[in-house]
Amino acid sequence: MKAIILSGGKGTRLRPLTYTGAKQLVPVANKPILWYGLEAIVAAGISEIGIIISPETGAEVKAKTGDGSQFGAQITYIQQDQPAGLAHAVKIAQPFLQDAPFVMYLGDNLVQGSLSPLVDQFKSNTLDALTLLCEVENPTAFGVAEVDETGRILRLVEKPKVPPSNLALVGVYLFSNAIHEAIAQIQPSPRGELEITDAIQKLIDLERKVEAYKLQGWWLDTGKKDDLLEANRIILDTCLQSRNEGDVDASSQIIGRVEVGQGSKIINSTIRGPVTIGDNCHIENCFVGPYSSISHEVKLIDADIEHSVILKQAQVINIHHRIVDSVIGQRAFLKEAPRRPKALRFMIGDDCQIELSS
Ligand code: G1P
Repeated sequence: MKAIILSGGKGTRLRPLTYTGAKQLVPVANKPILWYGLEAIVAAGISEIGIIISPETGAEVKAKTGDGSQFGAQITYIQQDQPAGLAHAVKIAQPFLQDAPFVMYLGDNLVQGSLSPLVDQFKSNTLDALTLLCEVENPTAFGVAEVDETGRILRLVEKPKVPPSNLALVGVYLFSNAIHEAIAQIQPSPRGELEITDAIQKLIDLERKVEAYKLQGWWLDTGKKDDLLEANRIILDTCLQSRNEGDVDASSQIIGRVEVGQGSKIINSTIRGPVTIGDNCHIENCFVGPYSSISHEVKLIDADIEHSVILKQAQVINIHHRIVDSVIGQRAFLKEAPRRPKALRFMIGDDCQIELSS
């Protein structure tokens, strides 16, 4: 079995972070979102992986992720020149996939748990498609499935106005080579894309074997700021292990599960986990509260931060309000002069410089 991971798209909902980078490389708990899927695929025993990239962000994805050796995989990069749809991505990946069955994983999705039960169901029932489904509150935002009691999919609709159920298609699919024939028979949707949902519906119409697997755990589509913070919270809650490779001085307090990377200095500060701090950070006179991810080379001085994601080389200095529910982009610079009231909420893009003065 092979796998393809889709890592194109423009990431419009995560702007401004995605003006300067791929949405799939935005970190959750200091690890690019894309790598979670990659690791889950390798853990399911699949090592031949194609990553679909776009002309805009492909070079960055390639530079960061490499040839796959660090993950125990062989990665082939496949460029999709236009965002012409998920089924179009499968089409251009066919020379790589050949006739092999494969997993298709959307690179901006985070899914709890192992892919192995899906691979087992796909193989033992000799399926042509297996889709992962999850109950959601807003099915109109997704592809939606109508399923019978045995788990067989009766019908699929992309972003329906009147959803037939609350079961959304999570961004993980398993296919036999029959999908290529189905894709050859579909037309672009009203949004101008070749939809994978339509291709799976075509398999159903052709009476191929299509089943669903209902996800028991969480699924996070990290498209927006609050989704990103929620993904960060859940990953820190469930996966973080304490590790201290930095330098924590005697007047600092580390409470709960906290990770401190190499070369980072914690001076006269309280860090209350779960918190991850990358390499070569400088944290002085600060409180860093639960569910915060501080990336590499970040400087925090006289700051109070909780439930936030601070990206590489950002600086937060002398802010007397608690910073909560915030995402601060790479190299952003925040500095405040005297005392000011109440809480602040931010979504600040890369390279921004903000000084709050009286
Ligand atoms: C795509 C699929 C949709 C699926 C969703 C999951 O939507 O077309 O069926 O539910 O991913 O994230 P898109 O992100 O392209 O709007």
